Amino acid sequence: MSTISVLFVCLGNICRSPTAHGVFQFMVDKQALGHKINVDSAGTGDWHLGRGPDTRALQHAAQRGYDMNDLRARLVTAEDFYQFDYILAMDRQNFNNLRAIQPQNTDCDLRLFLDFSQNPEFSEYQEVPDPYYGGDSGFNLVLDLVEDASVGLLEHIKQNL
Ligand code: 4NP
Repeated sequence: MSTISVLFVCLGNICRSPTAHGVFQFMVDKQALGHKINVDSAGTGDWHLGRGPDTRALQHAAQRGYDMNDLRARLVTAEDFYQFDYILAMDRQNFNNLRAIQPQNTDCDLRLFLDFSQNPEFSEYQEVPDPYYGGDSGFNLVLDLVEDASVGLLEHIKQNL
């Protein structure tokens, strides 16, 4: 039986990608697919390695029932392209940084995460905006966009399980 591995990537691995990790893991678990779908997250920047998610990200996620307390920031590596079936970048800067370290001979599918967005309400967004230097609305927008794209991603993966 094949398993599918998904890696979410942002800059610091303390706001957007842990939120995607927590939300998508929640949906996977709710559909009892935890034995078939492996979820992880990482960052392209090294400022916060080993730390838990930003407290603002934790609080906003908790308000919607997502628990990301056990997650710890790590750096994405070229090796990840061999370990993961999907690497999903939160924005174009992350995407370009990933392209720069992507080995040539892997089957890994590298995309912008919001390629899986389904809700027309969010069609103006191709990237998940960085909430780090902003306020509450930024963190809620991250959750809105991540929830929407997670639904689309899970549907896509289930078609290929
Ligand atoms: P993230 O947000 O990439 O969504 O985790 C950021 C976290 C930290 C920084 C930038 C963005 N920083 O500059 O430290």
